Formats: sequence, C-alpha cells, structure tokens
Amino acid sequence: MCPYTTGLLGELKRLKKARNAIILAHNYQIAEIQDAADFVGDSFELSRKAAKTDADVIVFCGVKFMAESAKILSPNKTVLLPVEDAGCPLADTIDVESLRKMKRKYSKAKVVTYVNSTAAVKAESYICCTSSNAIKVVESVPAKQIIFVPDKNLGYYVASHTDKEMIVWNGYCPTHDTVQVEEAKRLKRAYPDAPIVVHPECKPEVVALADHVGSTSGILRYAKESNADTLIIGTEEGLIHRLQIENPDKKFLPLRERFICPNMKKTTLEKVVNSLEKMEFEIKIPEDIRIKAYNALARMLEVN
Ligand code: 13P
Repeated sequence: MCPYTTGLLGELKRLKKARNAIILAHNYQIAEIQDAADFVGDSFELSRKAAKTDADVIVFCGVKFMAESAKILSPNKTVLLPVEDAGCPLADTIDVESLRKMKRKYSKAKVVTYVNSTAAVKAESYICCTSSNAIKVVESVPAKQIIFVPDKNLGYYVASHTDKEMIVWNGYCPTHDTVQVEEAKRLKRAYPDAPIVVHPECKPEVVALADHVGSTSGILRYAKESNADTLIIGTEEGLIHRLQIENPDKKFLPLRERFICPNMKKTTLEKVVNSLEKMEFEIKIPEDIRIKAYNALARMLEVN
C-alpha cells in the first residue's frame, strides 16, 4: 500500500471515531473503498444494517437513491453521500408527475417500485421491491394490474414469472442494458462449462441465456455454492473484487469488457475522507415524503 493511501486510511479511522460514523460500500464500489468499509453489500441490505447500529453518521459509498434509502430507515442519523452528483440514470427515468399520470390512467393498478428509485417515487408507491424479492412482492399485491417502475428489464423478468397484468415503465440501467446477447454467446462458446450469472437489469434475451439470475447478493451466494471453477458474471465488475475475496480458487469473468457504472466509480478514498471532514453531502428528505416512502419499504419487509 502506498504511503498516501495509508495516510488517508489513518485519517478516515480518526474521523470515524470522532464522528461516531460507519462506512457503507455497495458491491460496485472500487476495491479500495470496499476494503475500507465497515459493511459491503447490496443497497437495501446496507441500509438495514446501518439502521441497526448506534452510529450517528452513515457515509454511503454508492449512488444517491441508496443513501436516500438509508435516510428513510434511519431518520435520526446523518447520512452522507461523498459525491454529490453520484446519481442513478435508471432512478432518474421517472419522476413523481409521470408516475401520478400512470396511476390516473390505470386507476385499479397498484404501484410496485424497485428500490433503485428516488425517495419521492417510493413515496407514491404501494410497495417497494428489490431485485431478489420482486417476484414474491408482485405476487403478494392485492390487485390484478401492477404498475412496475422504473426498470423495464426487471419488470419483464417478473412478468415472465407471474400471471399479474404488468404495466412496465420504460426505464433501464445503461450499464446492464448495454450487454448484448452475442457477447454472452461468445463467452459461453469459449468457456462452455462456466455458468452465466446475470443481474435481472440485463435485457431479457441475455437473462434467457443465464444459468442463474440474481441481485448482487444472490450472485455472491450462487458463486459460493457453485461447483464450477470459472463463472461468467453479468453485472457491474466491482462485484468481482468481493467474489474473488470470498472464492480465491475460482475465476470470474465479466460478461463484457468495461462492465462499469460510471457513477459508482466516482467515489474515492479522498472523497470519503473529505465527506466526513466537512460533513457533506447530507441527504435530506422532507418528513412527509420520508414517511410515505418508509411505508412502501415496510410493506415489502412484511412480505419478506
Ligand atoms: P443490488 O445490489 O440490489 O443487486 O442492485 C444493484 C444495482 O444497483 C443494479 O444497478
């Protein structure tokens, strides 16, 4: 480790203690951040873990909607996002007005919102879901018609596993949706014994080729239990760092070259130190919105 990094880690340790803070890192963060974090995981798992701690400050190394979820679950803690413009283009595909318009159009439908969404959109929803529980959540909803937002690929995946009538918002994650089926076929030809494991934000034709479809936590679980020595990973390549630590004898190949979420890569150790030093950028959610968003998340937890 270079002396500069060692210095930053020392400074981080000092600030964490002074502020009674914890560092959360999503599975897509750069290796350095994952290694420095108190918890590494998927977005909702991290928010739940943080809520159970007695920390006063949560530094969420991820993108904005994730830090918002942490704030929704921990209203009395200060939640910081180290990079102000670490956004999520998928979450930003839908705003409250567009969702209200859909609700007026399909007045009998209930809204199921993937957690990769803004707090304001969650607040307009009947229930939230994650990529691991989406099918179960949709099945639990007491309505035949479901408005599913914002990810169309997760929506199509759920639609193929339920009899509900799904009205799917046309949003997508540019990082996952870019994977082409040809890339998956090419890798499968080169490594015929390697299972393909993908995130459900990939296109349906890529999902159809997969041996397993799961959230980042689901992919980690599958990789651990698999007997294969090589696995093809269809999600942001930050996850490979953790896969490799947990499975040192297995080989993990990204489904495509530069499988990168640019927003996730904006967070650096310097920015985390700076965030705790200056106590920025604080996530603030109006209390009426937070309560409604909390209710949609709480309903999901009841299903789980
Ligand atoms: P999970 O970690 O919940 O699978 O979500 C990852 C994500 O944000 C995909 O874009």
